[in-house]
Amino acid sequence: MISTATPPQTTTTDDDWWRSAVVYQVYVRSFADSDGDGTGDLQGIRQRLPYLRDLGVDALWLTPFYTSPMIDGGYDVADYRDVDPMFGTLADFDAMITDAHAHGLRIIVDLVPNHTSSAHHWFTAALAAGPGSPERARYLFADGQGTHGELPPNDWESIFGGPAWTRTADGQWYLHLFDSSQPDLNWRHPEVRSEFEDVLRFWLDRGVDGFRVDVAHGMIKAEGLPDVGFSTMTTGQRQVELLGKGRLPYFDQDEVHEIYRAWRPILDSYPGGRMAVAEAWAETPQRLARYIGPDELHQAFSFDFLDATWSADSFRKVIDTALAEATVVGAPTTWVLSNHDKQRHVTRYGDGVEGLRRARAASLLMLALPGCAYLYQGEELGLPEVLDLPDELRQDPAFLRTGESRDGCRVPIPWDGELAPYGFGPAGSELSWLPAPALWRALSVTAQTGVPGSTLELYRTALRIRHVHPALALDADGVTWQESEPGVLAFSRSAGATVLTCVVNMSGAPVLIDGYGQPLVASDELTEQGSGRLLPIDAAVWLERR
Ligand code: GLC
Repeated sequence: MISTATPPQTTTTDDDWWRSAVVYQVYVRSFADSDGDGTGDLQGIRQRLPYLRDLGVDALWLTPFYTSPMIDGGYDVADYRDVDPMFGTLADFDAMITDAHAHGLRIIVDLVPNHTSSAHHWFTAALAAGPGSPERARYLFADGQGTHGELPPNDWESIFGGPAWTRTADGQWYLHLFDSSQPDLNWRHPEVRSEFEDVLRFWLDRGVDGFRVDVAHGMIKAEGLPDVGFSTMTTGQRQVELLGKGRLPYFDQDEVHEIYRAWRPILDSYPGGRMAVAEAWAETPQRLARYIGPDELHQAFSFDFLDATWSADSFRKVIDTALAEATVVGAPTTWVLSNHDKQRHVTRYGDGVEGLRRARAASLLMLALPGCAYLYQGEELGLPEVLDLPDELRQDPAFLRTGESRDGCRVPIPWDGELAPYGFGPAGSELSWLPAPALWRALSVTAQTGVPGSTLELYRTALRIRHVHPALALDADGVTWQESEPGVLAFSRSAGATVLTCVVNMSGAPVLIDGYGQPLVASDELTEQGSGRLLPIDAAVWLERR
């Protein structure tokens, strides 16, 4: 044994469910379509709840299903208190959450506070009311530079490409860190703060168990809206590169924490452990950790884990840093490998057979770590990114501006059947808002169910063990790294005399895994060598010693 990182000590209660939960991200538009219009919906989720219960996850995070023009897949919200007709009704939501709770599944909803849709009534009122009006004060309107105000107020760029400012008919400009249909709110305005506190209560009253906070690091912009200095940068240094790597005047400003300190008492005033997870990018893990703790949010995704390259050193470094930060702030670590904004991890790790092998191994690694893990729909099927979608079908607003598109990880889930979209809709329905590739027939839920060695059965087995194994429980010991060959990650967790060791082979040659006890689950078939066992390359195994 060579080093130990201990997770925060906690007293486990039901309110602590989120500390070690496995949360399944449902990209609502692409999960299950109950009415055959080619778009997933709340009734579709409701019908598939037994699948999610049997998979063994603890909670669902639903991406936005609110009233929206859907220019950014629903992250452009026009009414925070209603369901878009494309996804159903509030009554459908109530029925879905009631059933989810009956299945023991908690529900986390997305909250999009940085910006509204330009179709939100606040924004249409702001445009109509004109410069200097109280209606404009809720957003970030400013006069332009240049003799006639014809230049944007500063040099900020949209994350989706192009300037972050759009000029209105009366000559003023408004800020949008994302698409021009997503105007940024002014979070120094008291009405904005009270509105979102009310939105939190609206969904808490409907029974939600938590919130995923979109762009949680972006709501406060530095006073005076200073230039970044983009004009002096090379293309390689531009904004997307800078995200999380440097202090931008619109990200991770200290004042943003006041907002979360106001939200936390609201969450705590409801029973049952209502929580919030930040989608936040910060310069360092230390700054990211400032979003979590007893008086702010409960979790912040560890995107460094998602970004780790396929090497033992890279993963070891990220894991150690994340665990150490969690210890300092007394909050658990939040692991994630894929989501609706990132290329699926099968493809990131190499695609094809190699990518799938590595993705399966990485998932076993993630599920053995202390803390909470987020799965993205379809990763349990080993779905790859769809790289060859025709351009005219791509809907990501970033695509037109940058050529980068997130549509390839948003293709509807294959459930069963011989013909696309493989059971995404009701029997006989041929519609799906993005087409599923023919290869997905063999990856459908039905095709993998009960098939030994399938990715779906691997996830089911791992989740079942994670649920019952004392060494993976919330109150088990933290991570104890074991001496291992270069390129191999090996760590143990224990509860009393019961020890579970996870070994991941990133070394390029099979490795002996003797001495750790009996294998419980492996991402690939183990082979025998003499009296010993070998873990193949790009594979992971959990072994148990009692
Ligand atoms: C977050 C979401 C992403 C969205 C953006 C703007 O990063 O995950 O999908 O485009 O915010 O709301």
